[in-house]
Amino acid sequence: MTTKQIQKLKSPKFIQQIESTLKPLEFLDRCAKDYGDIFFTNSFGNLETLVVSHPQDIQELFNPVNKILDAPGAANEIFKPHVGENSLIMQDGERHQKQRKLVMPPFHGEQTVNYGHQICEITQQVMQHLKPGETFIARHLCEDITMTIMLKVVFGIEQEAKFEKLKTLMTTWLSLTSSPIGASILLLPFLQKDLGAWSPWGRYRRLRQQIDEQIMTEILERRQQVQSSSHRDILSLLIQAGYDDGESMTDIELRDNLLTLLNAGHETTATSIAWALYWIHQQPEFYHKVLHELQSLNTPDPVKIAQLPYLTAICQETLRIYPVSVFTFPRITLRSVNLRGYHVASGTYITPCIYLTHHREDLYPQPEKFQPERFINRKYSSYEFLPFGGGSRQCLGQVFALFEMKLILATMLLNYQFKLEEFAPVAPTRRGFLISPQGGVKMSLAVDTAY
Ligand code: HEM
Repeated sequence: MTTKQIQKLKSPKFIQQIESTLKPLEFLDRCAKDYGDIFFTNSFGNLETLVVSHPQDIQELFNPVNKILDAPGAANEIFKPHVGENSLIMQDGERHQKQRKLVMPPFHGEQTVNYGHQICEITQQVMQHLKPGETFIARHLCEDITMTIMLKVVFGIEQEAKFEKLKTLMTTWLSLTSSPIGASILLLPFLQKDLGAWSPWGRYRRLRQQIDEQIMTEILERRQQVQSSSHRDILSLLIQAGYDDGESMTDIELRDNLLTLLNAGHETTATSIAWALYWIHQQPEFYHKVLHELQSLNTPDPVKIAQLPYLTAICQETLRIYPVSVFTFPRITLRSVNLRGYHVASGTYITPCIYLTHHREDLYPQPEKFQPERFINRKYSSYEFLPFGGGSRQCLGQVFALFEMKLILATMLLNYQFKLEEFAPVAPTRRGFLISPQGGVKMSLAVDTAY
């Protein structure tokens, strides 16, 4: 077989970085149009990276039997200021697998189900602050809910003053990098200069330090308490858990991993729910179908809600059309590999592009259209539909995130009536590392809210 040549983007590195920071989806659409489903880009920091989006390539690469890829922590350097150097995102090899094994259990299976009622209660509590007729931004509301879930369910913070303090610090810190311009200090490392408390990087670092101190205080206090009481929050479970060799996480590891969970878990889920609310209310047909399905449950039990097929399809299509994370984390090839006739050398950085796979016309006809029925009519493989990535770094919170998404949406739709206050299609835009609805989706609460 003749080897095909993989093309490199022709524009200068600096232009690629600016375009992918400011207009990420337009940039990718153009790359796919001009270069197809496999190409080299220089848009990620200093690394030349191979972008792939053909399911066959993704399957070949992610299949654990093939042992082609490593997921180096060093390739995630760009996330270090956001998660800390002891985060599992920054680890690789055995250390990474060890930390994952310890952090994963509370986010899976039966454990997740235990948090269902708490998730529904928190949604109700936050919703109660909204007044009938009031206009609100869906993403802000959902962030309030998912941040509260993280701080109460994951961190187990019960005391109101402590909860409010950490919530305010986190919200202020994250808002610094929320606009495409603000995100530049994370995506373009040469801007990371601490020129005092009022410079963008100086402010970012000082707030991060305050957050670290606050989380550390929480860890030290909880260490004392877990001996004497039966806390069921995830921090208490992590403090008690041990690696196979009897070692357990140090305080610094715990701190950075809590920050990781908070960062990786709250905005991603909130943004996805805001998108889902937008799509559900954009066409009456979607709203009536999902509400009818929810109302058909005699008791809205969390486990039953999570199994509803149409609600599941709504969530899947939401995560397909504008996946909050456009790429997986970067990987590196451990050996050379042939991908559909393209030769890829050993030591090549590769990142599967979730967005481009989800927009392939051959998999998803009319990919720009929101059509939940696709997921009812066809079962997609994990190489065709991968909002949570794949392989050894696949999202650790995916089961929890989908459960949370469905329960929050169900609690909202069953108890309140909303109106979409957007009169033009809402476009996707960059928000920090994520893709988010521009303006956050303006909605209002109907005056007669009770069902
Ligand atoms: C809709 C919500 C979410 C989406 C779309 C999402 C998506 C992703 C993606 C694409 C990755 C990279 C996977 C890869 O490189 O192959 C990832 C990693 C990760 N996610 Fe999520 N995520 C979500 C929610 C959550 C939640 C709720 C948590 C935890 C509470 C979480 C924790 C993590 C962690 C810790 C990693 C890094 C895993 C590792 O390095 O081994 N995520 N997520």
